[in-house]
Amino acid sequence: MPQNATVLPATVRKIPRHVAVIMDGNGRWARERGLNRVDGHRRGVESVREIVRTAGECGVEYLTLYAFSVENWNRPKNEVKVLMRLLEQFLRDEVPELMKNNVRLHAIGRLTDLPGSVQEQLHKSIEALRNNTGLNLILALSYSGRVEITEAVRSILREISLGHLDPAQVDEKVISQNLYTRYYPDPDLLIRTSGEMRLSNFLLWQMAYTEIHITPVLWPDFRKPQFLAALEDYSKRNRRFGKI
Ligand code: FPP
Repeated sequence: MPQNATVLPATVRKIPRHVAVIMDGNGRWARERGLNRVDGHRRGVESVREIVRTAGECGVEYLTLYAFSVENWNRPKNEVKVLMRLLEQFLRDEVPELMKNNVRLHAIGRLTDLPGSVQEQLHKSIEALRNNTGLNLILALSYSGRVEITEAVRSILREISLGHLDPAQVDEKVISQNLYTRYYPDPDLLIRTSGEMRLSNFLLWQMAYTEIHITPVLWPDFRKPQFLAALEDYSKRNRRFGKI
């Protein structure tokens, strides 16, 4: 049981080991208020802070946040710039709070696509938090499920061409071991905010049997009560993994 355990509602009977989140709706949240899209992203960072703390308090072991996709590079230059700045600030300023909450930090994606200063800060923060033993916070940055699978195929083919692997040995385990997520269990629960019903190229291989919770709430309004509601929804699911 984590130290500052949240008192869970009686309806939350099962805690998913790994929760993945598509944080959607920052732009709409801003538009509804006559604000700029980047104001929505700024408010979204506050939700990130609250959900990281809550997930840790609930005893979730892994939390993967889809913070920036490969496709997001095609957004207007200024929006990309602001998102990178928010990310760098978060990575720099949040370390004391993450440390206090015993959070370990990880990142997946094409990390070398990120601006140099973001990469540097990312590695510094990962290093500073590496001995923590509570929640594993995994940031998906410049992430694409299809790119991840393509890179895995390429690295397996390299092993085969070097004679280190026989094609007959390539099974699901070998593929999983060549993904960015090789150290983490598959997500048990996917939360998507803002009501869209799609996967958006997120953890395509890993989510084969993941339960999905979609809420109309926009990401900047997604806070502790909404996270607990997602856990409550998950508690009602009967996971059969294809069996009866
Ligand atoms: C989707 O909303 C959100 C994003 C593309 C970025 C998510 C980033 C953050 C919450 C802030 C930075 C992250 C961290 C980890 C500090 P959208 O812009 O697609 O919203 P819309 O669909 O309403 O336009």
